[in-house]
Amino acid sequence: MTALLQVKAVETYYGNIRALAGVDVEVQKGEIVCLIGANGAGKSTLMMTICGSPQARTGQILFEGRDITRMPTHEIARLRIAQSPEGRRIFPRMTVYENLQMGASLDNLKYFNEDVEKMFALFPRLKERQSQRGGTLSGGEQQMLSIARALMARPKLLLLDEPSLGLAPLIVKGIFEAIRKLNETEGLTVFLVEQNAFAALKLSHRAYVMVNGQVTMSGGGRELLANPEVRAAYLEGGRH
Ligand SMILES: Nc1ncnc2c1ncn2[C@@H]1O[C@H](COP(=O)(O)OP(=O)(O)OP(=O)(O)O)[C@@H](O)[C@H]1O
Ligand SMILES: [Mg+2]
Repeated sequence: MTALLQVKAVETYYGNIRALAGVDVEVQKGEIVCLIGANGAGKSTLMMTICGSPQARTGQILFEGRDITRMPTHEIARLRIAQSPEGRRIFPRMTVYENLQMGASLDNLKYFNEDVEKMFALFPRLKERQSQRGGTLSGGEQQMLSIARALMARPKLLLLDEPSLGLAPLIVKGIFEAIRKLNETEGLTVFLVEQNAFAALKLSHRAYVMVNGQVTMSGGGRELLANPEVRAAYLEGGRH
């Protein structure tokens, strides 16, 4: 079976600097796959390259077998690839409810009320704060909103860049539980970037390790969790 997402020998540059140096990654439908690696490894660049900004200079990105390498970002979004980017990027002056409206795709407006209720059930905190402006939410609440907004697009592939960044362990646990639940009950496919390697590897079916713009290791989430090299580099000294 063709993978939902195939990244093949992708190279991405910022000017003359090569941030991705030949990356191969696959995500199957229904999988949670994570990408771990140190600061500056190129994780966010890969997420953004999948969304078409910046575009890959060489290599290929296929979604459902279709070549999206040169597609503009808005067309990629229309294929139902949704991203919760690093740093959340919610709309700070809009309310929680309006942010969710922005996430819904025009094709899915008939599901809007149903989907908003689903998000409120998943993140009850957002329901309590639906009239509050995004910019005044706490960090954890903003993260929930960013994920919920991405989910409003009814994505076939959800890209999450550091959903745990700067959040207290209990909030991280809640967010990861929500992702697991969506994956188990609805078969949501997730590709996530994390520095919190421990939690991410526990959650994921499979994982990739990125070093200096290249994938250096891959395997089952629990397999990598037990791998001595991964433990030394990303678990023992790093954030848990
Ligand atoms: N807009 C940009 N212009 C120039 N260089 C960039 C730009 N964005 C990222 N880079 C560089 O590309 C490399 C990869 O950055 P990237 O943000 O993908 O790393 P990352 O793995 O997501 O790191 P972190 O864990 O710190 O978020 C870094 O050396 C970074 O300085
Ligand atoms: Mg990053």
